[in-house]
Amino acid sequence: MPLPPIFAPAPAVLLLGIETSCDETGVALVRNEPGGTRLLAHALHTQMAMHDAYGGVVPELASRDHIRRLLPLMTQVLAESGCSKTQIDAVAYTAGPGLAGALLVGASTAAALAYALDRPAIPVHHLEGHLLSPLLADPAPEFPFIALLVSGGHTQLMAVDGVGHYRLLGETLDDAAGEAFDKSAKLLGLPYPGGPHLSRLAAFGNADAFELPRPMLHSKDLDFSFSGLKTAVLTQVRKLGDSNLCEQAKADLAAAVQAAIVDVLAAKCVRALKETGLKRLVVAGGVGANQLLRERLAARLAPLRAIAFFPPLALCTDNGAMIAFAAGLRAAAGIVDTPAGSRRFAIHPRWALDAPRTEAMA
Ligand code: KG4
Ligand code: ZN
Repeated sequence: MPLPPIFAPAPAVLLLGIETSCDETGVALVRNEPGGTRLLAHALHTQMAMHDAYGGVVPELASRDHIRRLLPLMTQVLAESGCSKTQIDAVAYTAGPGLAGALLVGASTAAALAYALDRPAIPVHHLEGHLLSPLLADPAPEFPFIALLVSGGHTQLMAVDGVGHYRLLGETLDDAAGEAFDKSAKLLGLPYPGGPHLSRLAAFGNADAFELPRPMLHSKDLDFSFSGLKTAVLTQVRKLGDSNLCEQAKADLAAAVQAAIVDVLAAKCVRALKETGLKRLVVAGGVGANQLLRERLAARLAPLRAIAFFPPLALCTDNGAMIAFAAGLRAAAGIVDTPAGSRRFAIHPRWALDAPRTEAMA
């Protein structure tokens, strides 16, 4: 049964976006205007320093910190945009996938605010937020395109025909690309999250100093596997031993790991473009901030006359803007996620992006 629209096509719709799926509390305000969706303000608190002591995200600490940060960030974003709470037309929140306790903080806060304002709360898929975030850049890609989603928990290639139309082409069979960066960085004694630290160290290293595997580089599908790479790094670290793991060896190993991950990601993107005949590639998720990946893709795509699009650097990792923005694009495309009058909310810690959405997902 078709659901009634939550938005009459009003000239301007103000959306608040809330992201709390993992270790970043993000809040943003965007406005759907006749000419497009505009980011008015966004604010972020990262818990990296807090989790660093444990070498990874501690879910209970993450949830508690989201509780502490969320309301002050909302106040900050409203002040920066010059908007008041009562002007908000809808509250978008990350409903999944992610850590259950962390998701609940954002979802329940969004639902409570929406209830108080008598506005809808819109559940957003975290990866859809990442995937559509390159549309916040200038120039923005047109549909259809291939999307490479590379975060700490996901590595997927999707064919994107339009807002809400996603087809999974391939994904990792084990570790995500971000996880491969993070676990290798940990083996090199770098702080959490290791990706940006490892890529900074790699700038001082020689990638050819170590021969590391490129798992599934030549497989005829669009899947990935990165767990073998982590094992290969562990083997090298053990071989070198404490005495030979000097700063230069660490930098060389960092460069070799980065080169191996980037080689595989770039090769699979090229294969996906060739197989589908599409000419636009969108890269989203934290690993999309990696400079070598950006350079390599630009070089590999040029002969295909294809172009790579990236979100603005500040919006590569988790943030509230992408959640508000995805909700805005879904609303503008006439996709209705919340039945009018519904006050229910749910979280989905495990949630496939191409799974059909049912009313129960709201
Ligand atoms: O999308 P994101 O912020 O969070 C998840 O949804 O997972 O991605 C975080 C991941 C981490 O694994 C982090 O190490 C990685 O993105 N990352 C990077 C870089 N910046 C963040 N990996 C490689 N190079 C970077 N510059
Ligand atoms: Zn993410």
